[in-house]
Order: sequence, then structure tokens, then C-alpha cells
Amino acid sequence: MTDYTEQNRIHWNARTAINAVSADRYDIAGFKAGKSSLGPIEREELSDVAGKSLLHLQCHFGLDTLSWARLGAVVTGVDLSDEAIALAERLSQETGLDARFLCTDIYELPQVLDDKFDIIYTAGGVLFWLSDLDRWAKIIAHFLKPGGIFYLQEEHPFLNVFDDAADVTDLLTRYPYCHTKEPIQIEGLLPHSDPADNQRGTEYVWSYSFSDILNALIAAGLRLDYLHEFSYGSNRRFPFMTQGEDGQWRWKDSANQIPLTFSLQASKG
Ligand SMILES: C[S@@+](CC[C@H](N)C(=O)[O-])C[C@H]1O[C@@H](n2cnc3c(N)ncnc32)[C@H](O)[C@@H]1O
Repeated sequence: MTDYTEQNRIHWNARTAINAVSADRYDIAGFKAGKSSLGPIEREELSDVAGKSLLHLQCHFGLDTLSWARLGAVVTGVDLSDEAIALAERLSQETGLDARFLCTDIYELPQVLDDKFDIIYTAGGVLFWLSDLDRWAKIIAHFLKPGGIFYLQEEHPFLNVFDDAADVTDLLTRYPYCHTKEPIQIEGLLPHSDPADNQRGTEYVWSYSFSDILNALIAAGLRLDYLHEFSYGSNRRFPFMTQGEDGQWRWKDSANQIPLTFSLQASKG
């Protein structure tokens, strides 16, 4: 594990404890009562999961993984954070939803997992943490069965250029759009933490352009089935956003047409 990965593991262990009690972002009580944590886009686009084997990359503490299990998928969740995986396993036991969880760096997955999957799913703030998207795409192709599908739903890559600190009041460009080999170091209050606690963290992230994402999948031998862009998303990425009755976040200024989310499906021939 590189130093950056180890730093990010420490960072995500701290965020796991915060996220586990942040009912607005991760509603564990609602989930235990039977609510799905999945958003409307993925529910509609990835509708046929019953009986299928599903590998969830960067599953955090597994709410989405277990929500797919509730819909009949045979699930395996993978994440770097040992605290997140421990919580995922507890949630699986408490809810009686069958799931396998593995704690590993995504880049080490081929050394710890042998199976092949009908579906590989990853969503909701994932690409940012990956140091090498070409290797990531090859790992996806490796774990897919022939005819299997990869589904990604992610924050729009163009958003990465803007400052998303807790105190910003408007769109200000701050970060590069294009990928840089060295990560961007971000320090500040941990998202969803209580500002009074002043819990701060350091994270290392990498920006990827849209063409980086698509070309990585194409170079790994996958065929792009569709690419969609949406003007809403399930995450409050910037403080100056507004939440609709459907629970989705949008720009306050409706003249701002920058997409917030994209989804894609790619298949292995
Ligand atoms: C924003 S969360 C994923 C969000 C997920 N959709 C959710 O809402 O629960 C990002 C996750 O990526 C994981 N992660 C970061 N780098 C990773 C790596 N190299 N290998 C595996 N997991 C990684 C983190 O531990 C974290 O749980």
C-alpha cells in the first residue's frame, strides 16, 4: 500500500464513524427499518439484479451493497477502510442480509478474490480516490464474466474543478480538471462532522476528465452501452445547493446548467 493509500485509509476510518451517525447522508436507522439507500437513477438503470452476482467496489459501510442484496443480488462489497468493512459486516448480521465483505485496496483485489461477476457496481464519490484509472478499468474487466456489465454512477467530473470547502458561497475554480500523476492534497473539516468538534483530516485525491474515464474502460476491452448526465444528485457537493422533495440535490440557481451526476454502463463481450 502506498503512503497516499494508507493516509486515505486512515481518513476513511475517521469518516466512517462520522458518516455512521449522520442521518441526513447515511440513514442507518431507516435502512434497518427496510428503506433502500439506493438513489433513483441507479434503481431505474440497474433494475435487473435478482439472482445475479454483484461486486460492489468502494462499498464504504455497505448500505448500498446490502440494498442490492435486498433486491435479490448475491453481493460482495470491497473497501479500503477496515472500520467501514467491520460496520458493513455488523449491518449484514443485524439485518440478516447475506453479503460478503472484503477489506482491501482495490488494486490488490486480484490477489485476494478469485470469482467472476455478472455485475460490477460502483457509485457516489469513488473515482476521486483512485491513483490509476487504467489499472482500475483492467481490474473491472478481469472480474466480469463474459456478457457481464459494469455500472458506474458518479459525481460529474467537471465538478472537480470547483472549491467545495464548507464555507464557499459560489462556484470558484480551484482544482485541475485534467489528471495529474501526483495527487491533490486536501485538508480541512471532515464532511458531515459537527463543526464544533473541529475534526480535521487530510486526504489525497486525483482528478480525471471525462475522456480519461471513458478511454480507460475502452482500453480495458469494455464496450460502452450508454452514458447519461443528470442535473441532480444524491450528494450535497457544495454548500449552496438545495434539496428537493425527492431528496435529490440541485443548484439553487436554475440558470446553472452544469450537470451534477453521470451514469454509464459498459459490457464485456
Ligand atoms: C465516498 S465513499 C463511497 C461512497 C458510497 N457510495 C457510499 O455512499 O457509501 C468512498 C469509499 O472509497 C473507499 N476507498 C478509497 N480508496 C480506495 C481504494 N484504493 N481501494 C478500495 N476502496 C477505497 C473509501 O474507504 C470509502 O469508503
